[in-house]
Parts: sequence; structure tokens; C-alpha cells
Amino acid sequence: MKKVILDVDTGIDDALAIAYAINSHKLDVVGITTSFGNVSVKEATRNTLQVLEIMNKTEIPVSMGEEKPMARGHLKGKATHVHGENGLGNVDLPLPMSKPIHTHAVDFMIEKSLEFSNELTVIAVGALTNLALAIKKDPTLVERVEKVVVMGGAVTVPGNVVPHAEANIYTDPEAADFVFQSGVPLTLVGLDVTLQTLLTKDDVKKWTELNTPFTNFLGDICQFYMDFYMNENGLEGYGLHDPLAVGAVIDPSFLTTKSMPIYVDLSNDLIGKTVEDQEPNSNRPNIDVCLEVNAEKFKEHFINTLCL
Ligand code: BDR
Ligand code: CA
Repeated sequence: MKKVILDVDTGIDDALAIAYAINSHKLDVVGITTSFGNVSVKEATRNTLQVLEIMNKTEIPVSMGEEKPMARGHLKGKATHVHGENGLGNVDLPLPMSKPIHTHAVDFMIEKSLEFSNELTVIAVGALTNLALAIKKDPTLVERVEKVVVMGGAVTVPGNVVPHAEANIYTDPEAADFVFQSGVPLTLVGLDVTLQTLLTKDDVKKWTELNTPFTNFLGDICQFYMDFYMNENGLEGYGLHDPLAVGAVIDPSFLTTKSMPIYVDLSNDLIGKTVEDQEPNSNRPNIDVCLEVNAEKFKEHFINTLCL
């Protein structure tokens, strides 16, 4: 089993990603760190604890992280129009009984990278603030993690939060660029592929039919998300952004990647844009950018894994 840390801003698709990782027999979730974006870091922490309680997995440590971008004030507000006021589609849930651990997310990442040296994968599906600060604090972390998989960016397609940028990168562009230039082995799962994996009403029928408290919870949170994507974006389903980053670790054959140097534009006009560095002698590190996905194979695996 691969040891993984999930770094999340729990939101609806983050909740689906957490559930997918926990239910997968291939992954051992050694901890979850929280950040901000869809909601505040406190709300992301609460939502994460609620998901773990629904899944009876409260033994997984949850470590709260940063509440704001590493080098600036907030560029954007919360994404309540996408994820609901509470971040989980306005589904009413009891306040969690469990609590986050005392260790800060930055230190938790460093500690786990020492404990599981060369076998830890970090799956980051929110702003990259925690990871960037962990690398700043202990630069040798980049040599100890097996891999980092980031849901973020839009290299060959338009953005979603502003025309040129994807939400997770835009939320903390300096942190994202710092991680990209750090030399850590990195796979980028961006809108290039996540908008090809749309979950439709028909796809979730399996969960509704099972009618367990857990699958009903999944169906309920997805309803809000589905309405946003179908009404506001005119799509026939919703993007499985964060679950696809987990899928990339469970079975890399879901995706086709191309290795290229990537940087984040930090200029005022294009802030947060993920750009391929075309310079032939670029000394920027290469990143494996996902450019194609076998959507049907991934979706089938994702839906079935959540039925377990
Ligand atoms: C990303 O932004 C967040 O809203 C989602 O949870 C996902 O991580 C998609 O752009
Ligand atoms: Ca997210």
C-alpha cells in the first residue's frame, strides 16, 4: 500500500477524493492536512473531520494548516457558489466530535516525510501553501518524498476561476510556483484532464440504489455540485478534479503525461496562469503534466470504489 498524505480544502470534490483514497486498497492514508480555498482552513478542517466520522475513520490524523497565501493577501473569496455555504453542498451534518491534532500541517508533512522516507506521496488538492512552507522549512523534503501529485493548473485549456487561471493555483500563486521550481518529483493533474472526467446523474445512481448512510451522503453533497455545473457551466456533469489526482496515484495508467518545465505567471495581468517554459535551455525542473485521461476507466473505478 502506498503511504499518502492528502492536503485538502474540503469542498465537495475534496470530500469525494478523501473517500476514494480511504476506500482504495492501494493507498494507506497516513494523515490529512488542511488548507483554504473552497472554504476557510477552519471550515476545511471541520468538513474533513465530518467526512472521517461518516466513514468511521477517525483514527486518521487531521492536521490544520495555513489560513492565507504565503506571500500576499487573499486574491479570491470562498467558493460558496460551487460548494455551498458550508463547503459540503449545504448538507446538514452534526458538528464533529473528533478534533484536529496539535501538530501544524507544515510540521506534519515534514515529520511524515522523515517517518516514511522515500515512500510518501503527497496528494495536494487545494492551494499549495502548506507544501511550499514545508519545503521552505526543510528543503531536504524534496529528496525524501516519493512524489507529489497536484490537482491544479490549466496548461492547455482556459482556467475556471478567472479566464487564465485554475482555482488552486490562483489561490496561492507564489506557493504554487515555489513548489514547481523546488525540483520535487511532481505530477500535475489540471483542468486539461479533470474537465474530461464529468460525473453525471446516471453515474451516481449506483450510490443512490445502495442507500447506505455513506452513499446517501455522497449523493446529497453531489446534488449541489451537479446543479452548479449543469446550470452555470452548461456541462452534463461535474468535474472530478480532486478524485482524479487520487486516481493518478492509485493507477497511473488512467492518464498520459508529458514532461515539461512549468512556471506560474506572477505578473498582475496573468497571475496564476500555468505556463510551459518554451525556452530550449530552460533550467526549470520538468513536471509530468497530464494531458489525456481514460475517463471511462477512471470513472468506473472511482464509482465502484466508493460502493465498497
Ligand atoms: C479545484 O478547485 C477547488 O474548487 C476544487 O476543490 C478543486 O480542488 C478545481 O479547480
Ligand atoms: Ca480542492
